[in-house]
Amino acid sequence: MTTAISYPVELVPADVYRPQEDSQLLVDVMERHAPPAGLRVADLCTGSGFVAISAALRGAASVTAFDLSAQAVRTARANAVAADVEVDVHLGHWARAAEFKPFDLVLSNPPYVPVDEDEAASVPESAGPSLAFDAGIDGRLVLDPLCEHAPKLLAPGGTLLVVHSEFADVDRTVECLRAAGLRSEVVTSQRIPFGPVMTARAGWLERTGRLEAGRRVERIAVVAAVKP
Ligand SMILES: C[S@@+](CC[C@H](N)C(=O)[O-])C[C@H]1O[C@@H](n2cnc3c(N)ncnc32)[C@H](O)[C@@H]1O
Repeated sequence: MTTAISYPVELVPADVYRPQEDSQLLVDVMERHAPPAGLRVADLCTGSGFVAISAALRGAASVTAFDLSAQAVRTARANAVAADVEVDVHLGHWARAAEFKPFDLVLSNPPYVPVDEDEAASVPESAGPSLAFDAGIDGRLVLDPLCEHAPKLLAPGGTLLVVHSEFADVDRTVECLRAAGLRSEVVTSQRIPFGPVMTARAGWLERTGRLEAGRRVERIAVVAAVKP
């Protein structure tokens, strides 16, 4: 199932992450595996609010969203008003969601692109803010704490859906979530061409043995985890 993006992506400011294949894949999986109608939903790392607004448009009982970027928060609030839905958007770390728990559905498209200090400057400005994608040497700077703590945000029977690429180790996400007591599995994946960030990082990933020479496509996956 594919959903039209709920607002013109070109209107998202340059310093806010523009919804991309990962955002859309997360929303598609939400529609298939965890329809949000009537649920209390959290969107961790909301950016322009695309995922949060999609949940609200599909009848969520409430949608609470978080982002560290003030510009993202302003944009998500404006987009929610334009879409005529209620989304409670908070400025701050995703872990602030603990103040508003429990949730029946937690959604996240966090930063997940591997980077080291020497590579950080290699990405063109047009790719958007580094806060949206840079995630430490293994891409798990946000994913590891999120996998550890997200279960505590869920009501019994609640579901976490998180999207990221193979370069941040999808199996490790499944294992972390299982270790945190959830039933976890990969529910879908999709191969996509490298965007500007991965294109800029390709040489470094090849040199460090994480990318076959010349490959310029990656697999993104959605992991689902259910709290028993
Ligand atoms: C990949 S973007 C995804 C945006 C949106 N969910 C989407 O799919 O279009 C990641 C977002 O996470 C935000 N972010 C990064 N670290 C964060 C943190 N620790 N807590 C909350 N938001 C964070 C960034 O500002 C950025 O807006």
